[in-house]
Amino acid sequence: MRKPKVLVASRLPGETQKLLAETCELSVNEGEAYTIEQLYANARDKDAIVSVLVNKIDKQFFDNCPAIKVVANVAVGYDNIDMDEAQKRGVLVCNTPGVLTDSTADLAFALMLSAARKTPSAEQYLRDGQWHRFALDLLLGVDVHHKTLGIIGMGRIGQAFAARARGFSMEILYSQRSRVAEEIEEGLQATFVSLEELLERSDFVSVHCPLNDATRHLIDREKLSQMKKSAIIINTARGAVIDEPALAEALANGVIAGAGLDVFENEPRVNSQLLDLKNVVLLPHIGSATIETRTAMGRLAVEAVGSAFQGKMPANTVNKDCWERFLALREDSIGR
Ligand code: DGY
Repeated sequence: MRKPKVLVASRLPGETQKLLAETCELSVNEGEAYTIEQLYANARDKDAIVSVLVNKIDKQFFDNCPAIKVVANVAVGYDNIDMDEAQKRGVLVCNTPGVLTDSTADLAFALMLSAARKTPSAEQYLRDGQWHRFALDLLLGVDVHHKTLGIIGMGRIGQAFAARARGFSMEILYSQRSRVAEEIEEGLQATFVSLEELLERSDFVSVHCPLNDATRHLIDREKLSQMKKSAIIINTARGAVIDEPALAEALANGVIAGAGLDVFENEPRVNSQLLDLKNVVLLPHIGSATIETRTAMGRLAVEAVGSAFQGKMPANTVNKDCWERFLALREDSIGR
């Protein structure tokens, strides 16, 4: 068996990629994110790619890089990957669930607090030298504690967010396709409601669902208008779950009071109207960006590649039913 050739499309933190160096022939992109042409040129002869969410792994990618047998995405979301196409070709897809749950929930909470208490504007005010005296009505925000929180998507991160909200004595509503187990609902004291009810009743709405055909623009102009005028929406999931121009309009026209966004529809481009608004806190997709978490994500992805080529199905395989076909592809191209 020859060593599988692996492309790490974006440098991983620390020494993570070295874990693969012994068992694989490794190429690492040490520079800027690849353009599509660079991605194809570098992945063309590779057996596996350790990808990130800016790498579009679609039909065109697979056509240009036919030797790829494993895609290990350093993210829990994998909406950058055409799963039907991977499935058709027997390509194994892995992601990095679990390890980023708490960091992402922390960041979502930080965004909710920042948007409610206007901390970015307040800091700017101080840095700009505008603070001359204490005033009772200076930079008033709104309380988070004891308010009603609506969570859209009660998966791992949604649940971790709810657990934090319990500490702030919030009433927790959630909405998704189906209810979570009773013991989870009870533990979090969370109530399952329709999306409409959630939007109508919540003071804060936080998005934690994956992006797919059913959730693209789930929050559109109409849904925004169902929210309270005083409501604040938080998104740390995927930008396209919210119709971004509709959100900018809603924020500008007072349809809702504020937003905290870590993700955008066309990253790294941000709707220019949003950039001009004071009632939105904007972050550059850093939900999981801690040293510990990004290291753990990188490790999980490279371990998945290593273990797949050693014939052990990684637990974090998204399309487990592809395993037998992957094994056959592996044997044909690199031997056993
Ligand atoms: C994910 O894991 O999907 C994040 O958006 C990237 O950290």
